[in-house]
Amino acid sequence: MPRPETGASFATRLIDWQRTHGRHTLPWQNTRDPYRVWLSEIMLQQTQVATVLGYYERFLQRFPDVAALAAASLDDVFALWSGLGYYSRARNLHACAQAVVTQHGGRFPAGSAALMTLPGIGRSTAAAIAAFCFGERVAILDGNVKRVLTRVLAFEGDLAEAKQERALWAEATALLPERDIESYTQGLMDLGATLCTQRSPACLLCPVHALCAAEHAGTPQRYPVKTRKLKRGTREHVWLWLRSNDEVWLGQRPATGVWAGLWSLPEFESRAAFDAASAGWPGAAESLPSFTHVLTHLDWTLHPVRWTLPERLDAAQRNALTSAWPAGRWFGLDEALALGLPAPLRKLLLAHAAPADPVS
Ligand code: ADE
Repeated sequence: MPRPETGASFATRLIDWQRTHGRHTLPWQNTRDPYRVWLSEIMLQQTQVATVLGYYERFLQRFPDVAALAAASLDDVFALWSGLGYYSRARNLHACAQAVVTQHGGRFPAGSAALMTLPGIGRSTAAAIAAFCFGERVAILDGNVKRVLTRVLAFEGDLAEAKQERALWAEATALLPERDIESYTQGLMDLGATLCTQRSPACLLCPVHALCAAEHAGTPQRYPVKTRKLKRGTREHVWLWLRSNDEVWLGQRPATGVWAGLWSLPEFESRAAFDAASAGWPGAAESLPSFTHVLTHLDWTLHPVRWTLPERLDAAQRNALTSAWPAGRWFGLDEALALGLPAPLRKLLLAHAAPADPVS
């Protein structure tokens, strides 16, 4: 794409299009409150708008401002985040709210450079908040925007290389308009989400198609170029739903890794490992349908086994069974459903929530 004339008209066309065809009524728009904008940007990082809407409203009702969020327990935050996935976001959200309160007097700092120093706020998220809330002239470059810009520019660099990624940031910065950064930034997001999609870009409707080098070449799907593919792995576990008088035993998962910090069922590497651990336990076991949970890097197959303990077991006896497992306890079903749970566990508990038949 020749420059600088094209740079100006790229921005102008995008801004005009955003005003007439872009999105204007999302609940995090029409506000300059950094708390609301920040919350939306974090939720939208790996999640579609349609999914975020309900979570966003519930979150704001429960935590109307950054002080309320900072004062909450991490468990409460996880409970409201449950089902959105990528739980490190919830942990960082809480840490960020606390940093805003303790280090910035309860107000988000008013510039992208300072925002980037806060937990969970990367360069693109900081830029989006700064552009929307403070009108800062600064570039965003999330996955959607990378796709738009690499196509418009026919950017051949391999984004698996840090040097090429830096070069694209420089291009994104060079394209910024002198004014109307809010509409421009939203326009890039809207274009990437609605027209310049990964598989079937709607080039005929695109406001910048006349400037788009990839469209001229007839190869928009070629971009972005990124060679390093994620290698997907597989994993299998037996998942133990241990039930006693309609209570379930849940443990809190470690702070890192899949479902970090959420409450979940004990896992066993194999059926043999599970059989060895449960040898001699009183009660009855039943296998529930296995399912595969698809994560970014991993297909994780879980084989749930529900083990119902006899009602006559006293607390000492049942606690002896779980003494080998760290950091967990028994919960009533309703109590469990109010916790931060992995989405498939919530589904499992709800699908099989009928009270246990007495086991003698
Ligand atoms: N994706 C990331 N940020 C967004 C925003 N502000 N509006 C819509 N989609 C988005």
